[in-house]
Amino acid sequence: MGYDLKIFSGNANRPLAKDISRALDTRLAEATVTGFSGGETHVQIDENVRGCDVFIIQPICTNQKKGISPNDALMELLVLIDAARRASARRITAVVPYYGYARQDRKDRPRVPITAKLIANMIYTAGARRVLTLDLHANQIQGFFDIPVDHLYSINILGEYFKRKNLEDLVVVAPDVGGIKMARAYAELLGAPLAIVDKRRWSGQLTEVMNVIGEVKDKNAVIVDDIISTGGSLTKAAAALKDKGACEIRATIVHPVLADPAVEYVENSVLTELVVSNSIPVPKRARNGKIKVLSVAPILAESIRRINNDESVSDLFANAKVEG
Ligand code: R5P
Repeated sequence: MGYDLKIFSGNANRPLAKDISRALDTRLAEATVTGFSGGETHVQIDENVRGCDVFIIQPICTNQKKGISPNDALMELLVLIDAARRASARRITAVVPYYGYARQDRKDRPRVPITAKLIANMIYTAGARRVLTLDLHANQIQGFFDIPVDHLYSINILGEYFKRKNLEDLVVVAPDVGGIKMARAYAELLGAPLAIVDKRRWSGQLTEVMNVIGEVKDKNAVIVDDIISTGGSLTKAAAALKDKGACEIRATIVHPVLADPAVEYVENSVLTELVVSNSIPVPKRARNGKIKVLSVAPILAESIRRINNDESVSDLFANAKVEG
């Protein structure tokens, strides 16, 4: 092991942070992360971190159970980093399993912010000197940081799940042009051809499927995407595949944002199954039907172990042919 390892968590996804700590055979370090009067965030690190290699686990997401918004989660992350820096941690790594605001990564219209870049600035300014994240919406977000970013892929866990199922006559489907690279990696892993849904986004909430490119008739489809928010993109893509003659339609989506009415959309859709990760906590009411949650704690834990030990992290993904 390298320098003394300390793992902290805010309130956005403590179960994941606990699973990661358990996988590393350590405990979650003590910190009090609460609301202050007037709605402010207050943090107190409750143990010595001087000279330690500190990892702060906090996806930038909603936690309905805890009443946390993505903005609360971000603020908790920033003040935890600040507290650790002022307490003389040797190095602070922001572990952000879901990088919220990632879809605001470019100036696609006049007078809009690039919020994903602003957040990168804030994480650095707070004091993080390394970032560990999972399935970024766009790979180039790594370039918003001038510090090392270890970018993990959940294909090792979600893809392997489908591999073990041994589904026959399979086709892997990218639900939009932006998802082609990841869908191609799944297609390689599963030994299946690739199809693409030509999706147009008219607004944050409204998308439309224009066409399906590739052969899906009489095939079992697996749709691969990074985010399910309202569920519109996924369920429309699934319906379009059904119209084109696909048989069973499954999906795997890394980050279950699951804004309303996503759960209802999925349950009432033609989908057989939706497999997501626990990068974002999935509310209980969403777990009973078609939605299955797989834990990404093992890859996050192994990456933390390697970072702490100055070992390669990219080696973990040597078998998954994900293009940068
Ligand atoms: C878009 O580029 C993303 O990969 C997702 O397809 C999208 O964010 C999903 O949003 P929604 O579930 O609201 O359609």
